[in-house]
Amino acid sequence: MKAKTHILPFFATLTLICLTTAQHHSFSSNAGPRDSQTIHIKQSHRQLLHYREELDIEDEYLMLPACLKFDNPRLRSAYIALQAWKLAIISDPLNLTSNWDGSDVCNYTGVFCATSLDNSSIQTVAGIDLNHGDMAGHLVEELGLLTDIALFHVNSNRFCGKVPKSFKKLKLLYELDLSNNRFAGRFPYVVLDLPKLKYLDLRFNEFEGDLPKELFDKDLDAIFINHNRFALELPDNFGNSPVSVIVLANNKFHGCFPTSLVNMSKTLNEVILMNNGLRSCLPREIGLLKKVTVFDVSNNKLFGSLPDNIGEMESLELLNVAHNMLSGNIPGSVCMLPHLKNFSYAYNFFTGEPPACLDLENFDDGRNCLRNRPKQRSTLQCKVFLSRPVKCEAFKCHKFDPSPRPPPVTSPPPPPPQSPPPPPPPSPAPPSALPSTPPPSSMPPPPPINPPPPVYFPPPPPNPSPPPPPPPIYQSPPPPPPPSCAEHPPPPSPPPCHEQLPPPSPPVQYLPPPPPVYNSPPPPAPVYNGPLPPISGIPYASPPPPPLY
Ligand SMILES: *[C@@H]1O[C@H](CO)[C@@H](O)[C@H](O)[C@H]1NC(C)=O
Ligand SMILES: *[C@@H]1O[C@H](CO)[C@@H](O)[C@H](O)[C@H]1NC(C)=O
Ligand SMILES: *[C@@H]1O[C@H](CO)[C@@H](O)[C@H](O)[C@H]1NC(C)=O
Ligand SMILES: *[C@@H]1O[C@H](CO)[C@@H](O)[C@H](O)[C@H]1NC(C)=O
Ligand SMILES: *[C@@H]1O[C@H](CO)[C@@H](O)[C@H](O)[C@H]1NC(C)=O
Repeated sequence: MKAKTHILPFFATLTLICLTTAQHHSFSSNAGPRDSQTIHIKQSHRQLLHYREELDIEDEYLMLPACLKFDNPRLRSAYIALQAWKLAIISDPLNLTSNWDGSDVCNYTGVFCATSLDNSSIQTVAGIDLNHGDMAGHLVEELGLLTDIALFHVNSNRFCGKVPKSFKKLKLLYELDLSNNRFAGRFPYVVLDLPKLKYLDLRFNEFEGDLPKELFDKDLDAIFINHNRFALELPDNFGNSPVSVIVLANNKFHGCFPTSLVNMSKTLNEVILMNNGLRSCLPREIGLLKKVTVFDVSNNKLFGSLPDNIGEMESLELLNVAHNMLSGNIPGSVCMLPHLKNFSYAYNFFTGEPPACLDLENFDDGRNCLRNRPKQRSTLQCKVFLSRPVKCEAFKCHKFDPSPRPPPVTSPPPPPPQSPPPPPPPSPAPPSALPSTPPPSSMPPPPPINPPPPVYFPPPPPNPSPPPPPPPIYQSPPPPPPPSCAEHPPPPSPPPCHEQLPPPSPPVQYLPPPPPVYNSPPPPAPVYNGPLPPISGIPYASPPPPPLY
């Protein structure tokens, strides 16, 4: 068969390497005499990928060098996946993959094994954590062989290209963190096929185009897609999302403020829509969002007045409506919210401000039309703007029309909760080697019904109760502008993502210095004390990469 004849040369070459470099057989090669060999591997490898994608070849057909012994077939598959990936990594300045040799994949840096969920007598690869690895390269289709992983964290690297289609085989994947890389192209639709996925972090990449509607019907707990190039009107089913945190900041979303957001009142804790092009009034029903602690719609084109009902958002700690076209009086109830610590409404056209606002710990009322307050707009500017009354209906936004929430598209009907794994603890407590009782092979339903708010945007420090995050090494500089893949150390052969060069990277428009409140807790070095229990809900262990959101 065609496929095999192409695969064999690849692994024949592997055998050769195994024999000739018994001590350090490595798939990568820097330069020199082995270049031709490398190229040969790469070519065969590409063909392999091609056929694998088309024919869905199972790894059992692949022959590995006889010198490799594996404890079980899944570790063998993992070996194939990791070696193929290593081959696609063209820069690894921290030498993280330098020990990715030999059959003991559980000992590879960044690879974590745990007892299999469906077979307690074997260890399988349960997680990949290469956060802050600074590696360049791309993800390979073979990663789909890591069918037992619950975590895939590669934040703050230089991976480019796309998310492999084969990721749909990662049926246990719970956290996918691709943030702060150079992934490009359309939204990775494959994530919609991951039934266990709870945490999706794509921020600080180069994804573009629209978002699939289905994203909002999916049973996720957190969506971070800020700092990409997504552009669309937010769909009407937005409010179906059961997330506790959603960050869409710094994209090109336009159209109306997503009124259906108010239908997320049971779960939503933080919503950050800043720096988009949303253009409408704010809906009155916003007061329903009683659990929201952080609400940031700054730098959009919101008109009209702040609805009185904002004063019913009783958990609010941070409210930012700055840099919009809002006008009228600030409702007094807002500034009397018991937990409100920081309220920014600068750069609007407000004309009235209750005294309570001036008593807030932090507020910014500059550049409005507030007489008797410093640093306001000119009388003329105010007069011109305020002479044109705002008609909210003119934006033709859909009315809040709570339609029954459809069942999540991707999840199969959950089996009865026999032994649901514990919900994720609220802090990145390093997982200990919890021996998870192997649940029935039909997985228990995902745990977090009422998940703890992710620790990414800790509200202003009212309570130091959140478990101590790792030592704060605040990395102030925002991530460097993503250079194109091709600017990196001369790749021996161009990585596949070569064609996706973004136009010569203009200085990335990072916003005014990041508001400290939102700052992700400083990226801790991933601390894993032991094997990861798959699915036991490591609470988004990966530190979010960038200091901005
Ligand atoms: C568990 O894995 C071992 C080793 O691969 C295998 O022999 C055994 O059949 C597996 N058990 C089950 C229940 O799959
Ligand atoms: C990585 O390995 C190279 C070559 O062995 C060495 O020169 C370099 O210092 C290593 N880098 C780190 C961060 O260990
Ligand atoms: C894993 O690597 C350590 C050293 O890095 C070594 O001591 C240990 O024996 C290795 N484990 C196995 C199972 O090979
Ligand atoms: C969303 O709307 C539906 C239909 O009115 C309603 O049954 C449901 O309770 C709402 N959900 C939330 C979280 O408000
Ligand atoms: C208050 O929030 C604004 C914007 O959200 C931010 O720029 C500012 O630094 C915050 N102030 C404090 C003291 O946290």
